[in-house]
Amino acid sequence: MLIDPFGRVATDLRVSLTDRCNLRCSYCMPPEGLDWLPRPEILTDDEVVRLVRIGVTMLGIEEVRYTGGEPLLRRGLTEIVRRTAQLSPSPQITLTSNGIGLARLAEPLRDAGLDRINISLDTVRPDTFVRLAHRDRLNDVLAGLAAAHRAGLRPVKVNAVLMRGVNDDEGEQLLQFCLDHSYELRFIEQMPLDAQHGWSRDDMITADEILDRLSRSFDLTPDDPEKRGSAPAETFIVNGGPERVGIIGSVTRPFCGACDRVRLTADGQVRNCLFAREESDLRGAMRAGTSDDDLADRWRAAVWAKKPGHGIDDPGFLQPTRPMSAIGG
Ligand code: 5AD
Ligand code: SF4
Repeated sequence: MLIDPFGRVATDLRVSLTDRCNLRCSYCMPPEGLDWLPRPEILTDDEVVRLVRIGVTMLGIEEVRYTGGEPLLRRGLTEIVRRTAQLSPSPQITLTSNGIGLARLAEPLRDAGLDRINISLDTVRPDTFVRLAHRDRLNDVLAGLAAAHRAGLRPVKVNAVLMRGVNDDEGEQLLQFCLDHSYELRFIEQMPLDAQHGWSRDDMITADEILDRLSRSFDLTPDDPEKRGSAPAETFIVNGGPERVGIIGSVTRPFCGACDRVRLTADGQVRNCLFAREESDLRGAMRAGTSDDDLADRWRAAVWAKKPGHGIDDPGFLQPTRPMSAIGG
């Protein structure tokens, strides 16, 4: 098992398959993009599958989430998903994507064994989309969402980040859009993870603010907290249900105490937290000929070093040196 000194057990593995992206969401990347990781440093498909196999068969990983950057940009994605699904025991396989390209890939991914998907959608207004993501691709995202739904991936979850002065007046419209299309919306508080270090606490739209805004147009009843488990979203039943909306107060309502996640970067580094300042290099070890048993030991040690919380509110908080796009959501 992947256990830490605070008794938390990591069962949810998030694997970034590339740090590249075809959008430039301002809470993540500057408009001009970033220096991408050099190709030779990126894990090959075989290396990804080997580490995922070690996680699933030796370390108790139950869910594998592929992320990026944008994971649909990884050519081998469908095969990686297929090979992940063939592991025994077979993990839950999920994807976090911006939806661009999903119109073509939703069915092949489902056939390969993908179970669920989360798609980022912060606005349904074309002009706001361009302002926020610096690319005119809203229609591709909407087509991707529809394709995921048609392919039977359930639930289709939508992640939205609200930013002051950009889309903070759009919460109600986003929720109505998701209700109309049977997508499950979750708002995420903006975290200090952008490469350009533009995050400020005062600009952040808090969970409380989101709830206030939504409550103007919708009747929201808190869902049974027992059902939350380690899920970061607090869920609310909308207008008597069955639809729900989730709010993830990553900053103001941290859920670190129940965290069950561990991350693998596209270049093969284990991170025990989004906000970790240290990583453990499995790629170097693997390429030096290290055995599965020894890789598993390194991985256990990396999780054992996990801190109790993200410390965003500590006076000495430092943003991680890697941006979100290179860590994996
Ligand atoms: N704060 C909160 N959420 C973020 N995401 C990316 N960057 C941030 C951030 N700084 C979200 C994206 C995507 C998922 C990977 O994480 O919206 O849905
Ligand atoms: Fe790309 Fe996701 Fe970052 Fe937006 S948040 S730029 S879609 S990696």
